[in-house]
Amino acid sequence: MPSVSVFGAQWGDEGKGKMIDLLSRDADVVVRYQGGANAGHTVVVQGEKYVLHHIPSGILHDGKVNVIGNGVAVEPNKLLEEIEGLRERGTTIDPSRLQISARAHVIFEHHKLLDVLAETWKGEGRIGTTGRGIGPCYADKAARTGLRVCDLVNEEDCRKRLTAVLAEKNALLEKVHGAETLSLEDELEKALAFGRQLAPFVCDTAATVRRAYRDGKRVLFEAAQGVMLDLDHGTYPFVTSSSTGPDGIAAGAGFPVRHIERAIGIAKAYCTRVGEGPFPSEDHGAEGERIREAGHEYGATTGRPRRCGWFDGVAMRYALELSGADGWIVTNVDVLTGFDELKVAVAYEMDGKRFSDLPAELADLDGVSPVYESHPCWSEDITGIRVFEELPESTRSYVRWLEEVVRVPIEMLSVGPERDQVIPVPAL
Ligand code: IMP
Repeated sequence: MPSVSVFGAQWGDEGKGKMIDLLSRDADVVVRYQGGANAGHTVVVQGEKYVLHHIPSGILHDGKVNVIGNGVAVEPNKLLEEIEGLRERGTTIDPSRLQISARAHVIFEHHKLLDVLAETWKGEGRIGTTGRGIGPCYADKAARTGLRVCDLVNEEDCRKRLTAVLAEKNALLEKVHGAETLSLEDELEKALAFGRQLAPFVCDTAATVRRAYRDGKRVLFEAAQGVMLDLDHGTYPFVTSSSTGPDGIAAGAGFPVRHIERAIGIAKAYCTRVGEGPFPSEDHGAEGERIREAGHEYGATTGRPRRCGWFDGVAMRYALELSGADGWIVTNVDVLTGFDELKVAVAYEMDGKRFSDLPAELADLDGVSPVYESHPCWSEDITGIRVFEELPESTRSYVRWLEEVVRVPIEMLSVGPERDQVIPVPAL
């Protein structure tokens, strides 16, 4: 596994944290390349729960280099809290274990305020963002008005750039939104203090990653969110503001895509979504509620109840094909235990027409209804099983059926939150 991309293949919250933690055992370098504190990767180690927002899940293993790449939107106070929280629980965090790209863009207070204010203005059309300033930060990056981590560690640059930026942002806050303005001196002082604290970790991470690969080290690229929230290929405009699949690695980590040797998608055995936007297989009734309660489907970052529904085979085929996935991992299979039957969307229907693939002209999925097929469920507790052949016959045939629907092999199942609650799936 010299270089592998692990990404979410649905609308985020697929259980990537646990799987990346597990897969990072075989990696030397673990790299986050997009997103920011909008993500919350949950890992449970011996009953202890860790929620990571910026720092790659490899930090929970000794001897790994963890990289926050240039494509990540860094919220310094949150990142410092994360570092402190891990240290308090006995994790060593030093520059040999954590590196932060000098080129990563920084989330400021004005980004968070404008994120929330813009959502209020959108009314019915709101996206349901996490309010962490992600959209405004990436917008400034594209507009070339953002500040990067390297700007925080240089007082003169920071003052010059923040003075110019804040003049415009304060005008926006006051004149467009009727909100209070921010004090330049306060913001500058905070930014420089963050810069001083982060400075030991800051370097050219893209060079680190390429050098590691050149030296034969194993590199794991950890995505946040999911392909259906991808800025270009997801359900725009109800998406996040970065490239959430393997294609984001080149820009967000400075690593050539043609050197990525494996791509593995992560998906839950059902679907969830937070925020607004189309979700064809959403179940508004008792079954959706049952999935939410059984799967504890509440946001790791915002605590919001997640919208829940059945596995969407059409969206999944699209996400894996788009990402060139070699295989995928199904998480939360245990959550389905005890249902009368399991439904899977095998096609969509709209205006009497049936679509087996996500139609380009319907990329935003508005107005499509799912065409379901059903499979018998199992009632046995599967959380203690570690060998595929020991699973109930209906679980095994369900897994094989999912492979048929999606047409990409399943490599592993996850049947509980702990690291060891996984079952390798033999290739057919
Ligand atoms: P933003 O990334 O905060 O701008 O939010 C844009 C959309 O992406 C909203 O629908 C969010 O709920 C969703 N989103 C952002 N991060 C995550 C995540 O980590 N898991 C699931 N949904 C997310």
